[in-house]
Amino acid sequence: MSIEGEVAADKAHELHRALGPVQLVSLGIGAIIGAGIFVITGHAAAAYAGPGVMISFIIAGTGCLFAGLCYAEFACMIPVAGSAYTYTYASMGKFLAWIIGWNLVLEYMAAASTVAVGWSGYFVELMSQIGWNIPKEFSSAPIAMTSFQDVSTTGAYFNVPAVVVIALASTLLVVGIRASARFNAGMVGIKLFIVLLVIGFGLPLIRGANLTPFIPHNTGTWGQFGWSGVFRATGVIFFAYIGFDAVSVAAQEARNPQRDMPIGILGSLVICTVLYILMSLVMTGLAPFMTLNVAQPVFVAINAAGPRLAWLGVLVNIAAVVGLASVVLVLLLGQSRIFYAMSRDGLFFSVFSRIHPQFRTPWLGTMSTGVVAALLAGIVPLGILGELVSIGTLLAFVIVCVSTLVLRRKAPDAVRPFRTPAVWLVAPLGVGMCLFMMAFLPIDTWLRLVVWTIIGLLIFGFYGARHGKEPEWVLVKHAAE
Ligand code: ALA
Repeated sequence: MSIEGEVAADKAHELHRALGPVQLVSLGIGAIIGAGIFVITGHAAAAYAGPGVMISFIIAGTGCLFAGLCYAEFACMIPVAGSAYTYTYASMGKFLAWIIGWNLVLEYMAAASTVAVGWSGYFVELMSQIGWNIPKEFSSAPIAMTSFQDVSTTGAYFNVPAVVVIALASTLLVVGIRASARFNAGMVGIKLFIVLLVIGFGLPLIRGANLTPFIPHNTGTWGQFGWSGVFRATGVIFFAYIGFDAVSVAAQEARNPQRDMPIGILGSLVICTVLYILMSLVMTGLAPFMTLNVAQPVFVAINAAGPRLAWLGVLVNIAAVVGLASVVLVLLLGQSRIFYAMSRDGLFFSVFSRIHPQFRTPWLGTMSTGVVAALLAGIVPLGILGELVSIGTLLAFVIVCVSTLVLRRKAPDAVRPFRTPAVWLVAPLGVGMCLFMMAFLPIDTWLRLVVWTIIGLLIFGFYGARHGKEPEWVLVKHAAE
C-alpha cells in the first residue's frame, strides 16, 4: 500500500483535499510575512545591525532556501500531514520524529502567540487613531522577563486583544479548511498590496545619509553593530521567515501535492525574501535606524518620510492588523496538523486525530492548541516568545536537511517527484547555516529548549514509545514498488 493509500484507508481520519498551487503559495505568504517584518525588524536594526539588517535578511533567507529545498523534496515524497515530523519519522524513526514533532508543537504554538501579541500592538494603535483607547492593563503582558533570574511584574492583567485574535482564528479553523483558505487568501492579498505600496512609494524617498555607514561600527560589545551585530540580527529576524514549512504541513490537504508542494514552499519563500530585503532597505533608508525600536517600526519609517506619505501610514496599520491575523491563522493550522499527524501515528493521545463529522477538521487538536496559545499570548511578552520559536524551528530545519541525506542513502530508488538539486551541497549548507543562527541565540533560549525537550521525553517514555506505530516501512515498500 502506498503512503497515500495508507492514510486514505483510515477514512475517519481523512482530511479534505481543497488546496491548489495559488492557495498553497498564499498559505505560505500568509504564514511568513508577519510580526517578523512588521515588528521585530525595527528592533534588530536599532539594537544590533543598523541598515546592515538587510544583510541579515539575505543570510537568513539563504539558509531558509537551503532548508526549503529539502522540505520540498520531502513534501513531494510524503504528502501527508505532519511536515518535518513525518519526514523524520520516515527516515530516522519514531524517537527523533517525536523530538522534532514536540519542538514543532512549541514552534507553531509560540509563534502564533508571538504574532498575536504583535497584532495586539498594532490593533491598540489603530483603535487609538479612531478614538478608542484600550487601557495598557488589558493589552499587555503581566510579566516582563529578560532571563530566568530576572522576572518582574508589569502591573498589567492580561493581553486581551491577543487572546481574542487566537480565539477567533481557532474557531475559523474548526469550521473548515476551505473557508479558512479563502479567508486567508483575502487577508494575504491586502498584506501584499500594502507591502508593495510601502516599497514602491518608499524607495524613491530613501535618504543616503540614513544608510551610511551601512554597517555601523561595533560599540565594543559583541553583537552590538559591526559584523557580530549583523549575525546576531540574523538569528533575531529569522523569525520573519518562519512559516514556509506550514505549506508542507498542509500536504495532505493539497489537491496535487507532487506538483504543488515545491511551488508552494519555494514560491512563497522566494517572494518573501525579495520583499524583506526591499522592506528593510526602505525602513532603514527612510528613518534613522535608532528610531525604529518601537511597536510599529513600519509606521514610524513611513512617518519619517514626511507629509507626502502620510496617507500610507494609516493603511500600514490596517494592513498589519489584517496581515498579522492571517499569520496567526496559518500557524495555528500548522500546529493542529502536526498534532494530528503525531496522534494518528500513535505517539500522542488519539483524541487529537479525531476528525469532526461535519467539518472534517481535527477539531479537538485545534481547540486545545488555541487554548494554550491564547494563554501564552495573554501572559508572556513578545521577545521571549519569539526566541522560543526560532530555536525550535532552526532545530527542525537542521534535522530535515539531515533526513534528506539519510533517506537518499536508505531509499535511493524511492520516487522523488522533486529532487533537491546538488543535495550533498545544499543539505549540509542548510545544516551549517541553521546551526550558525542557533549559535547566536541567547543561552536562556537554549535552556528553554532543553526543558521543553525533557518534558517531551517524559511523555514519549510513558506514552509514545508504547503506542507508536511504525509507518516508515511504508516508505521503503513504496520505494520498492
Ligand atoms: N514569519 C512569521 C512572522 O514574521 C511567523 O510573523
